[in-house]
Amino acid sequence: MYDAFCKCHKDAMQKNRLKFADIPTEFTGLTINSFDVNCYESDANSLLARKAKQMVANYILNFDDFEQKGKGIYFYSETRGSGKTRIAVSLGNVLLNTIGRQVKFMTSIDLLQEIKNTYNKEAEYTESQIINAITNVDVLIIDDIGVENRTSWVNEMLFGIFDNRMKYKKITIFTSNCEIENLDHDERLKSRIFKMCIPVKMPDEDVRKAIARKENEELQIRLMEGK
Ligand SMILES: Nc1ncnc2c1ncn2[C@@H]1O[C@H](COP(=O)(O)OP(=O)(O)O)[C@@H](O)[C@H]1O
Ligand SMILES: [Mg+2]
Repeated sequence: MYDAFCKCHKDAMQKNRLKFADIPTEFTGLTINSFDVNCYESDANSLLARKAKQMVANYILNFDDFEQKGKGIYFYSETRGSGKTRIAVSLGNVLLNTIGRQVKFMTSIDLLQEIKNTYNKEAEYTESQIINAITNVDVLIIDDIGVENRTSWVNEMLFGIFDNRMKYKKITIFTSNCEIENLDHDERLKSRIFKMCIPVKMPDEDVRKAIARKENEELQIRLMEGK
């Protein structure tokens, strides 16, 4: 097929996309392959992690179909440090770097803060510019939905954004420490999230320490061996 853009133009576009995506440095470039299903202590948790990883792999394989249906994924578990952000961002990285979609990562608190910032007189963007950018991005990753304060302003903002994303079948990926049904938001908003996402249960186990310990052990060996 005739390719309208030279390589340097494409590289520049990808660089802009990466910058716009704003994936936290801790997670940049991490893939789903390196999502570890053996770092959980109990077999039940390893199994949940394995299932989640398999579902993400199948989601990627069939992305065209899910995209047409406008279906994202809602990763949830009560326990912090169990890999929700890790798996959501790994999926985002594939959609950004391999499938070539525009991706934006933000916590729900960041989202609301970015809108609030536009109320400042010296703001660079207007409220509607920010809302439009968030509403129109191909893939939006909202980390930690449910921790924001619930006010009528918050509800109105979130409802407006997710209602439009649902209508235009845009993919939204969420992480949360509670099930959709238990979110402290009004039913209209919850039913939009329900319609837009396949819920995926993550383990209830904090693996942050176990992973840090493993990393340090490997580094200790390297230090001892002088490599
Ligand atoms: N299954 C996993 N494989 C590899 N790293 C993981 C896994 N689960 C969690 N981590 C790492 O542990 C830390 C906490 O995970 P995170 O995804 O931030 O937890 P949560 O979002 O559930 O609070 C991060 O540094 C993350 O990269
Ligand atoms: Mg998280």
